[in-house]
Amino acid sequence: MRTEICESIYRIGAVDRLCREFHGYSVRSGVTYNSYLVRGTDKTAIIDGVKAGFVAEQLANLRACGVEPAQVDFVIVNHAEADHASGLPQLMAACERAELVCDAKCEKTLRGYYTDAAMTWKFRIIKEGDSVSLGDLTLTFVETPMAHWPESMATYVPERKLLFSMDAFGQHYLTYELTDENVPLNNVLAELRHYYANILQPLGATTKAAVKKIQNIDVDYICPSHGIIWHKHINAAIDAYKKWTAGITDRKTVVLYDTMWNSTEMMAEAVARGASEVDGMNVCLFHVRHTPTSDIMDELLEAGALAFGSPTQNTLYMPEVGAVLTDIRGLRPAIKHAFVFGSCGWTPTGQALLQDTLAAMCYKMLTEKPLTCNWRPSPEVLQSCRDAGHQLAQQLDK
Ligand code: FEO
Repeated sequence: MRTEICESIYRIGAVDRLCREFHGYSVRSGVTYNSYLVRGTDKTAIIDGVKAGFVAEQLANLRACGVEPAQVDFVIVNHAEADHASGLPQLMAACERAELVCDAKCEKTLRGYYTDAAMTWKFRIIKEGDSVSLGDLTLTFVETPMAHWPESMATYVPERKLLFSMDAFGQHYLTYELTDENVPLNNVLAELRHYYANILQPLGATTKAAVKKIQNIDVDYICPSHGIIWHKHINAAIDAYKKWTAGITDRKTVVLYDTMWNSTEMMAEAVARGASEVDGMNVCLFHVRHTPTSDIMDELLEAGALAFGSPTQNTLYMPEVGAVLTDIRGLRPAIKHAFVFGSCGWTPTGQALLQDTLAAMCYKMLTEKPLTCNWRPSPEVLQSCRDAGHQLAQQLDK
């Protein structure tokens, strides 16, 4: 398998092929913890660690490049989150003479997580614009705070026009290919969107600032800490991030629902049908207990309108509706218009709570109160649902 990205720079990370759950976010085809080797004429550096349990694989990949851990001069830590840093105690023990290079925020975080091991590490604290010379190659540091954590930064090798971008531009896309040249672009972009929607979406403003910085750098390669390396399609990745970080949505209506005895499901289908009657409208209909929440958040990333239905259960909405709502509140998709509906036996309190929650997020509600019915929706109620779905979708053309 090819590991050399360009002259003297290699990927040496690890593959977590069976991972399907990544701190609460569902992953479709496994995860990579990318780590890189940069061999200068005078010095050698590793860029980023891997998750604990994967260090043996990282070290085997290092040795396959002809480098023993004891020969490593620097370990650059761009980000302190555990998927990249929890293997550091083992890596730093193996790279016995290496300095650990990071910014001051990262040092503080690492000392918080790895208290005893960190006591033994030789920290070199850098800041924006600082460089470390490896001889013929230079590592220059670019701070990208809150893309993903406060200490997040990128590392640039000007002699190769190569940027190690950390989580930014990452995707959980597994392939034997090293770069994006020979894989279907749409598949990679789909995983880029899935990652952004579930990880970076609530950090749109700070990620936008990071993208702006990166755009001003002359790059031939963007090497993220997850997934494939961007080379041929760098502009496609940057354009996607520009759209998402700007909160630009499509003519797309997502209808979500849960249902107890199929009444709210009947209403949801009528809402979706009404929305689909708007010419060219992209409409997605999801039962929240039959769709991974991470996939729903992916679909909501570019949606301009949301219709959300739930029966009332124990005076509230149904539990999985609450779970999806929690992710919507946390990830804050840039939905413009919303509508709430649902069936109840005797009190529409669940729908009212759902309406209040979405309204509190500053989504413009189509109706002042949710559209509700008792027990089974009548043909008239279903027609009202269909009309509401149509009107909701039409808001996107105004
Ligand atoms: Fe891949 Fe924020 O860690």
